[in-house]
Amino acid sequence: MVSRRMISMTESAEHSATTNGSLFNTRYTTLASNTIDYWMLPDDPSMTEARVLQAIEGAPVLDEASLQIYLHVPFCAQRCRFCAFSGGNSLDFAEAERYTRLVVLQLRDLLDRTRIKGQAIRSVNIGGGSPDLLGTHIGYLLKSMRDLPGCSDETEFSVEFTLSTTKREFIEELVRYDVTKASFGIQSLDRQVREYMRQPKSLQSLEQVLGWIDGRIPVVNADLITGMPGQDLKIVQSDLRALMHDPRINCISSYVLTAAAAPSLLAGVAAGDMPPLPSAHERALMRLDTYGTFLREGWTRRGTNTYVNPARVVPEVIRRIAGNECIGGSHYEAFLLGAGPQAVSSLPGARVENRVDIDGWCQAMERGEHPFHLSKCSDVGQEDTALWVFPLRWEALPQGRFDRMMSKGSISDEQLATLGAFEREGLVIHTSRGYELSILGEVFMGHLVHDLKKDSGRRAVDDYVREGYALGSAISSGAVADSNSANNRQIALPLLGKASG
Ligand SMILES: C[S@@+](CC[C@H](N)C(=O)[O-])C[C@H]1O[C@@H](n2cnc3c(N)ncnc32)[C@H](O)[C@@H]1O
Ligand code: SF4
Repeated sequence: MVSRRMISMTESAEHSATTNGSLFNTRYTTLASNTIDYWMLPDDPSMTEARVLQAIEGAPVLDEASLQIYLHVPFCAQRCRFCAFSGGNSLDFAEAERYTRLVVLQLRDLLDRTRIKGQAIRSVNIGGGSPDLLGTHIGYLLKSMRDLPGCSDETEFSVEFTLSTTKREFIEELVRYDVTKASFGIQSLDRQVREYMRQPKSLQSLEQVLGWIDGRIPVVNADLITGMPGQDLKIVQSDLRALMHDPRINCISSYVLTAAAAPSLLAGVAAGDMPPLPSAHERALMRLDTYGTFLREGWTRRGTNTYVNPARVVPEVIRRIAGNECIGGSHYEAFLLGAGPQAVSSLPGARVENRVDIDGWCQAMERGEHPFHLSKCSDVGQEDTALWVFPLRWEALPQGRFDRMMSKGSISDEQLATLGAFEREGLVIHTSRGYELSILGEVFMGHLVHDLKKDSGRRAVDDYVREGYALGSAISSGAVADSNSANNRQIALPLLGKASG
C-alpha cells in the first residue's frame, strides 16, 4: 500500500514554493499537476481481450467521425529528468527493422478491425521517444502509412525526433515522404536548466539539424517547457523570444512542466540535486507571459500548446495541422488508432492501452497475440469527451457539437454548472461560435479539463497524480530505483507495493 506519509512528502517537495492564495483571483492556487493523459478511466481488473476486440470492432462510425493515427517509438538515448515517455533505451539497426515491421502490423490490424477503415485519414503522427533512432527505417513507416486506404495529400504527417541523436539520412527520409511537420524538443536554451534536466548542454545539434532541414519541411516545431527547476520568468521569456525570432522555426509548442508525470524529477528536487520548482505564482506568470506573447505576435494556436507563425506557414498547411500533440480523441465520435508499446487508441466506446514493456510488446506481436494492457482498457463510452477536451483543442467547442451532446443527455447538470461558473469567472468565453478559453483559461487549462469531467474520470486523474507523487517519494527514499521506467504507470502499483512492503 502507498503510505500517506510517502505521498505528502513529495507533494510538499512540489508545493513548497507555492503560495496559499488564489492565482490571478481565480479559484486555483496552483497549475494542474497532470497535463498529459486525461482520457484514462479507473482500472478494470475484470477486462478481457474478447471485450476489447468487441469494442474495437463494434465502434460505430457516427456523424462527425474522424480518423487519426499515432505510432509510438519508445526508444531514446537521453534520460531527460522530466520525461514521461521514454524508457531510456537504445536501438540497433536490426531491432529497428523488427520494430517498424511490428508497429505497422499492429496498426494495420487495428485499422482492419474498425468500421471506419477506408475513410479519409486526417493525420499520422509518429512520436516518441526518439523516432530518429529508427534511422532510415522511418521511411518504411512513412511509406506504409502513405499506402493506407484513406491517406491523401490532405493527410498531415508529423514526426518527432531528438536533436542529439538525429542523423542527416533520417531528415532526408522525412523530406522524401513529404512530412508536413518536424518536431523536436529544446525545453530551454539556458545551460544551467539544461544541466539540471540532464540534457546535453551544447545546442550544436540544433544548428546542424536545422541546416539539414533547410526549409524543405513546411512546419518546423520546437518544444519548450516552462516551470522547470532553475527557470525564472526572464529565462522563459528569452527562450521563447529567441525561438520566435529564428527564421528556421515557424512553430513552437510550449508545455507546462507536468511534475506528477515525472517522479524522477520530483525525487531530484526533494534530494536537493537542483533548486525547487518555481513558485506557483511564478509558474502561472510564465504561462500568462507565453500565451500573451503568442497573441501579441499574431501566432495562431494549432494544438494544445502549439502556436504557428502565420507569416511563415501557408494557410493550406496550417489547415492541415490536426493539432493532437496531447494524443487523445478530441470528441466521442473520433477514431484515434495508436500502435506501439504504451500507445493508446480511443474509439467511440473503447479505450485500448498497449502494454508498455518493449520486449513484451514485441514478443506478443510476434506470437500473433494482442499486446494490450487489459486492466487499463475500457469499453465504457465517454460521450461527453468533447466537453472536457475542449480546453486542449485549438478549435475550441463548436456550438453544434455542444448542442448535440446536450440533446443526447451526455452532459450532467454538475458539468453544466461548472461550465457556467468558468464563464462567470472569466476562464471560458461563450460566443455564437461556441465555447473557447480566455487567455486566463489557457493558464489553467489542465484544471479546467479535470473539473469538467464526470466524477469517475476525475478520480482516475487524481489517482494518477497521487501515484506520481508516491513514486517520487519512493525514489527519493531509495525504495525504488531512479530510472525513467519508474514513470511507467503499468508497473506503478507493483513498484509501490514493493516500496512500502
Ligand atoms: C516526449 S518528447 C518526444 C520528442 C523528443 N524525444 C524530444 O524530446 O526532443 C516530446 C515533448 O514532450 C515534452 N515533455 C516530456 N515530458 C514532459 C513533462 N513531464 N512535462 C511537460 N512536458 C513534457 C517535452 O517538451 C518534449 O520535447
Ligand atoms: S524528452 Fe525526448 S529526448 Fe528527453 S528523454 Fe524524453 S523522449 Fe528522450
